[in-house]
Order: sequence, then structure tokens, then C-alpha cells
Amino acid sequence: MKNELLKKIKDRSLVAGVIGLGYVGLPLAVEKARSGFKTIGFDVQKKKVDMVNAGSNYIGDVVDSDLSELVQAGMLSATTDFSLLRDIEFIAICVPTPLDVHQEPDISYVRDSAVMISKYLTKGTIVVLESTTYPGTTEELIKPILEKGSGLKCGEDFYLGFSPERVDPGNLVFKTKNTPKVVGAIGKDGAEVISAMYRAVLEGDVYTVSSPAVAEMEKILENTYRNINIGLVNELGRLCYEMGISVWEVIDAAKTKPYGFQAFYPGPGLGGHCIPLDPYYLTWKAREYGFHTTLIENSMVINDGQPEYCVERVMHILNWHKKAINGAKILMLGVAYKQDINDYRESPAIRVWKELKKVKADVEYYDPWVPEFKNMYGESGKSILELTPETVASYDLVIITTAHTNIDYDMVQKNAKVIFDTKNAMKNIKSRKNIEVL
Ligand SMILES: NC(=O)c1ccc[n+]([C@@H]2O[C@H](COP(=O)([O-])OP(=O)(O)OC[C@H]3O[C@@H](n4cnc5c(N)ncnc54)[C@H](O)[C@@H]3O)[C@@H](O)[C@H]2O)c1
Repeated sequence: MKNELLKKIKDRSLVAGVIGLGYVGLPLAVEKARSGFKTIGFDVQKKKVDMVNAGSNYIGDVVDSDLSELVQAGMLSATTDFSLLRDIEFIAICVPTPLDVHQEPDISYVRDSAVMISKYLTKGTIVVLESTTYPGTTEELIKPILEKGSGLKCGEDFYLGFSPERVDPGNLVFKTKNTPKVVGAIGKDGAEVISAMYRAVLEGDVYTVSSPAVAEMEKILENTYRNINIGLVNELGRLCYEMGISVWEVIDAAKTKPYGFQAFYPGPGLGGHCIPLDPYYLTWKAREYGFHTTLIENSMVINDGQPEYCVERVMHILNWHKKAINGAKILMLGVAYKQDINDYRESPAIRVWKELKKVKADVEYYDPWVPEFKNMYGESGKSILELTPETVASYDLVIITTAHTNIDYDMVQKNAKVIFDTKNAMKNIKSRKNIEVL
């Protein structure tokens, strides 16, 4: 089985499949097709499937012409018909791994995908999970589902592994194609075949580890590392404010050290589908071992408190201007969870929005990337249409919650009554008289 698959990878006769055509899955499907593998994408959302088949792109990190040319050439297609999995020899699972309302891992999308694959799994297939999850998911959850549903044996009839996705939406240098990839599989042969496939598709290095659990834990380490370091600067930021020191200046000074320090910055909280969520997968799993991940949990407490802290600071600033927050007209700049992208999942800006509404502020937002939003917690809103000097001047306070680069910050400074900049987006603006920084 191994040699035949390696041969098919080499001569590009292997057919690839990607389950879940979102921020992770679509770029991956495009790269596979670009490398010469006929690729089929599977999704439960017919709208996305139709768009792919029409050659229309909906993910910022995918180049429009790459997608349309691959579809036209018959190298890439999409479907909601999972029975086509029967013909796929390399299946990558890229479905969501969110939290439920109790902040517990919701692994149902991964489980559903495994059940679906098990129905159509044939001998000589490779299955790889790419979704971020707790250590143990591939061996403890997916393997038994695949073996039970198909009657096939992992390692003998099919290969199974985990390879975390590292996509960083909006990153102009590192994309799916050139980011190194970690692979952990069940058995040496599985690791060899999966690594060979990624080497055939990607330019980045492929680093093989001894098991799927190591790869799963490695991904959580990457994201928890960010979570904790952001927690540290958020906490220091609060202390610096009390002490009359600029935390931003402190970080700029610290980062002159050429080794042993990496700069992280404070902000209104954590956002996106990874950094704020993934540590919860680990803390949940750790409890099975009677273990409390105290450092991680403390950092999440700090980061989760940032939206409320930002609103407290807004309240102070308005007070200095003899204005109550109740009824104050506030313009929020940005609801996306990070700059220059349209993704607002778990965006801390929306938490700030909610907290401002709670204290009866009259809040509106402007985001050229997100014309409207509606999230799973019931919050929704529509961006004001234009950011003009007159509109900016009509608000009691402007709060910057996302550091988009296509905002005329100079104009905002010249016209706003007062600005609370939670991202230090206005650091290059010379006149600081109406700017308060987090
Ligand atoms: N977005 C990121 O920046 C990023 C980075 C690294 C890792 N990840 C991880 O990758 C995984 C996917 O994230 P994403 O951002 O691409 O999510 P996404 O929501 O953008 O895309 C997931 C897709 O899966 C589809 N889907 C859901 N259930 C399905 C099913 N049973 N069968 C087929 N399709 C199904 C959805 O319709 C959606 O199109 C998550 O585990 C996430 O943590 C995301």
C-alpha cells in the first residue's frame, strides 16, 4: 500500500479531497490542485460549493485567478455529495472546532466528518485531520469511528494522521504554500506517505513527529504561547496605566534585545477561530488527568476581561470631558478580529460593542471590511457607510478596536472630539492632544 501511494503521489495520479472549504480548506484545496493533483472539495454549505464550481473566490488568502483557472482546467471542483469520497485517496479534514455555549470543545463537526468518511472509506486511502483540537482526537475519536464504520484496519488498510494548519489570514509573506508543516501519524508508513504528500504540495519544510498526539499538542502550544504572551502584556498594560507609563514604549524598548524576547501587544482582547478557543480544548482534556492548566486559565481570565476594561477606560475618558457614557455617541472603528481581513469570529471588538450597549452608550461602527455582522451570540450590526470629517466630528468619542490600514487616521485625529486607541493604530500621528491609548 505504501509504495503504491508514494508512486501515485510522485506521478500525480492520486485524487485529493478536502472536507470543509473555509479559511483553511479552500487554500489547501487550491494548493493541491496547483501541484497537479485532481482535487475535490466537500462542504455542507451548497452556496460555497456552487461558488467554487463557478470559479468565484470567497477567501481573502486565495488568488481569484488561481481558483478560476484550476476550476476551468478541471483540476478543482466541489460537491455536497459525500459518496464521491469513495474515489478519494487523500482526504484532509478542515472543519470547524468551535466552543459550545459553555465554552467546552464542540467536536461534533470532526465527528460528523469521520462518520461520513467511514461510510465511503476504501483500502489504500490516507486520512489527515487538520482542524485544531485536543491531543488524542485522531487516535481516540477518529480512528475507532473509521475502523468501525468501514470494517478496515488503520495502518493495514488505510493511513491516518494529524497535520495542524497554520494559516495566518492576511499574512502577506507566509501562506499555506510556504509555511512549514508538522505531521504526526499512526505508524511509520503512514507518516512517510502523509509527509510525501505535503512535500509534493507545499514549498515549506515538512517536520515529522512520532504520533498524532504530539502534533495535536504542538499546535496547541503554538496558540497557547500567543494567548499567554498577550495575557502578559495586557496585564502589564493595566499596571503601566496605573503607573503613568506607556506599555507601548516599554515593549518597543524591550524588542531592541536581539534574542530571548518576542514582542506581543495589548488590545481589546483575543479574536478569531484559534487563539481564544484552542487553549480551552487543552484545559478540557487536562481535566481528564486531574490536571489544572492554571497559567493558561489565568491568561484567559486576563484576556477575556479586556473588553470590559476598555469600556471602563472609555467611561473614564468621557468623565474627563464631563460626559456620561449613558447616551454618549460612540463610533467604533473596526469589528474584524484583526486588521485588513473580513473575519469577525470571536472578535473582541464585538464584545466591546456589547459592553458599550450594556451601559446604554449609543454606539455605531465603521469597518470597510465588514459591512455587517451577526454572530452566534445574537449580536448584530451594520457599518455606517462613509467615514467623513463631518461624521467623525458628530461622535462624542471614537474607539479604535481594529487596526485596519485603509483608514485615514490623520483625518480621524483632526476631526474627532476624543479618541481611545486600543490598538495603538495611530502611533504615527504627530498631534496627540485628543488621543488616549490603551
Ligand atoms: N482560520 C484560521 O485562521 C485557522 C488557522 C489555523 C487553524 N485553523 C483551524 O482549522 C479548522 C477550520 O477552520 P476554518 O477557519 O477554516 O473554519 P471555516 O468555518 O472557515 O470553514 C469550515 C468549513 O467546514 C464546513 N463544514 C462544517 N461541517 C462540515 C461537514 N460535516 N462536512 C463538510 N464540511 C463541513 C463549513 O461549512 C465551512 O465551510 C478549525 O479547527 C480551526 O481551528 C483555523
